[in-house]
Amino acid sequence: MRLTDMTREASFDLSSTTLSQPSPDGNWVVLKFGGSSVATYSNWLSILARLRRRQQDGFQLLVVHSALRGVSDQLQALLASAEQGLEDGIVDAIVETHEALAADFGVDATAAIGAYIEELRQLVAGVRLVRELTPRVAARVMAMGELMATSLSAVWLRNQGLDVVWHDARTLLRSQPEAREKRRFLNAVCRDDANADLVRQLSMSAVNLTQGFIASDDNGETVLLGRGGSDTSAAYFAAGLSARRLEIWTDVPGMFSADPRLVPSARLLTRLHYSEAQEIASTGGLVLHPRCIGPIRRHNIPMFIRCTPRPELPGTLVAAVTGEPEPTVKAISMRQNLTLLSLDGVTMWQEVGFLARVFAVFAGHRVSIDLVSTSESNVTVSIDDDGEPLHETALQQLVDELSKICVVRVIHDCASVSLVGRKIRTILHKLGPALELFEEQRIHLVSQAANDLNLTFVVDDAQGYRLIQKLHPSIIRQSPGDTSIGDTWESLQSGDDEQPVTAPPWWRLRREELLESMQGHSSRYVYDGATIASAIDGLKSLAHIDRVFFAMKANSNIEILKQVHAAGLGFECVSPGELDRVLSLFPDINRDRLLFTPNFAPREDYERGFETGATVTLDNLFPLRAWPDVFKDRDIFIRVDPGQGRGHHEHVRTAGMHSKFGVPLFELEAFAEVADALNCRVVGVHAHSGSGITQSDTWRQVAEVLADAAQRFPHVRVLDLGGGLGVAEKPGDPELDLAALDDSLAALRAQFPDYDLWLEPGRYLVAKAGVLLARVTQTKGKGDMQYVGIATGMNSLIRPALYGAYHEVVNLTRLDRVASELVSIVGPICETGDKLASDRLLPPSQEGDVLLIANTGAYGRAMASTYNLRDPAPELLLNS
Ligand code: LLP
Repeated sequence: MRLTDMTREASFDLSSTTLSQPSPDGNWVVLKFGGSSVATYSNWLSILARLRRRQQDGFQLLVVHSALRGVSDQLQALLASAEQGLEDGIVDAIVETHEALAADFGVDATAAIGAYIEELRQLVAGVRLVRELTPRVAARVMAMGELMATSLSAVWLRNQGLDVVWHDARTLLRSQPEAREKRRFLNAVCRDDANADLVRQLSMSAVNLTQGFIASDDNGETVLLGRGGSDTSAAYFAAGLSARRLEIWTDVPGMFSADPRLVPSARLLTRLHYSEAQEIASTGGLVLHPRCIGPIRRHNIPMFIRCTPRPELPGTLVAAVTGEPEPTVKAISMRQNLTLLSLDGVTMWQEVGFLARVFAVFAGHRVSIDLVSTSESNVTVSIDDDGEPLHETALQQLVDELSKICVVRVIHDCASVSLVGRKIRTILHKLGPALELFEEQRIHLVSQAANDLNLTFVVDDAQGYRLIQKLHPSIIRQSPGDTSIGDTWESLQSGDDEQPVTAPPWWRLRREELLESMQGHSSRYVYDGATIASAIDGLKSLAHIDRVFFAMKANSNIEILKQVHAAGLGFECVSPGELDRVLSLFPDINRDRLLFTPNFAPREDYERGFETGATVTLDNLFPLRAWPDVFKDRDIFIRVDPGQGRGHHEHVRTAGMHSKFGVPLFELEAFAEVADALNCRVVGVHAHSGSGITQSDTWRQVAEVLADAAQRFPHVRVLDLGGGLGVAEKPGDPELDLAALDDSLAALRAQFPDYDLWLEPGRYLVAKAGVLLARVTQTKGKGDMQYVGIATGMNSLIRPALYGAYHEVVNLTRLDRVASELVSIVGPICETGDKLASDRLLPPSQEGDVLLIANTGAYGRAMASTYNLRDPAPELLLNS
């Protein structure tokens, strides 16, 4: 399984051990557990661990849970048969389900839920007697599932030593007035503003336990929030409490790009914006109740969807996620059993107000419309049943009245297939092949949402599955650097046993020292000597590489240079300044440990290079022709352009037509002739194709080009394969396989035994060894955006602004706290681009906290500036 940054962040809460100070306005987390989650004893052990962990984290807890799996369906069946006056064994079956769990719990079921069972029997007997079921009684009966389940679990949780306060949700959640009886009792809506009364009713120290799905109206009557409404209950509670987070614990690993039962290769969606999650839920995604997103979105509360039996999985985060480079389709969802009305009004079409009259009929029948498409002579609409299918007679009445103004055709058994994502219209061209299916079949309606969040096709029910299966593989793709689309359903099901266990980064182990190093500092680069040492060891162990030079542009810190020098490596320098720094530190250094690789430099730089005794690399014909006296009788390296650039960003690809570096291969002959005429001997051939490369085969390909080029230069003894060795940027990204790099060079080595092979890496030696620490200065909430300001910014680390580079960020002060806020991390520089990271999950940060920006040892401080006259972070090397 791929570890994403999300997983890593999510894993914080697994290792959480410390206590924090609750903020004065509360530190609430609402946890909702679904019917499957609460149905088994093993899941309850996982729930118990979760609750303890959250309490240790200093949160106040409200737990909301559903009826045991299957019980709501049983209650519904019970009502249906009672309405017909039938006796059946359903109540006994419901009792058995609860007794089985009670037995696992070691709890006396009768004592815990006996009174509810009795009430249930009486209510059902009443329905059976009068053979009439009112929405009011249906709500009372359905509510029993949640009441019984929570009463049982409360006893067990107390037996486990938790302080639990059980609440009847009907005393906590009040529905809004609603005239229609069915809606009032069975599909109620509640207010979602912050609710001080709710806070007062709950215990700050105990675990508050209550039911999902149920509430009460102004008369104190039991009402329901619609089937699947427990998510919505939890969202109302989270909104009422202004909770830090809402956790939806379920039996699947999160939200997927399609229904995994139809598409086993459906991908886990690790991050969704509220609007995307809303769209997926509304267009048929199964995991969330569509109404649960509005309340948390209004209060900007992040929602974490997690899997109860597998809490180690990353799940889906729904929040105000903003950074999205590419337009992507996130999901394909389907709703079935739709009814369409096709309205032909050929003669009336030109009439002013025709549409208004049509829609007025729908309004008069209280039927809301979901999708609409219009043409010159036809309007086709789908009926929005909001979970309650329109009754045949109600439909007939609607059709009768519409028939007075147009010709109506009812199309039953349709399915809507929706592509959901952002900027949907940009992917239309990809749909062609998938839509070939519809040469023969009808598409009844196509609708592109005005917000560009979905594109929906309505087809016959039977075609819906086929369409999804055809669309999914061509549409759901992960673009490079996109962490919002995760593993496939299949791979998550197969478990993650093979997942390599990665060692924690050094900065987790040296956290105390790092925090201490910040005494009296507002920002600091800190380097770990041991991490540099192990990178050096790795490079030295390469059997087919003869010498390694440190490209000191990556980090020219004096202490680090000393460590590299002591390890016996050479230095690759690109300016007289770099040469001078090495020579001032190590005046006696053997000059064959110095490479000098200037580019478009002035004549004096080359003169200075030769004067120091370094090996000078020339990457253009111009200097040979313009300043022949500088190169006469010299030994030099030639830097060639191998043609194909590579690397993490176009700015760091240093080969190919559009790069300013290297002698093009077609100019080698001319170069050789001019050099020969000057008795300037080319003794090495060099290429550097880019930076941040993790494909291990790259250097073999470069070596082949160099070996070929070297044939023109008889004195060559070295092929310098350049640097560019990458490190994983994000947790979970692939690491460069050094052993594979080495192996790939074996054949070439055997073919050209007389050439030495050199490498000149910069990043690989120092990137992971460095962290940038900076104190939190201020925080700000601005609509969807939450900012955490730190004491230094692009003046210390320009890589995010310049390359969009990703650096992991953690709050070192609160390293083991649950990451519950989605924030952007910004510095104090007067530029909008002064953003070090976007959309990161961090625990709530406070002024003075120390944030750590990882993997900043390379091209961090080395590229710093004093822009805005702010000094960049000072440096410190920690030795072991
Ligand atoms: N050799 C030559 C000739 C180079 O130009 C470079 C880097 C290296 C070696 C070392 O490359 P490395 O192993 O560090 O990838 N500022 C950018 C990287 C620019 C690299 C420039 N040349 C960044 O922050 O990613």
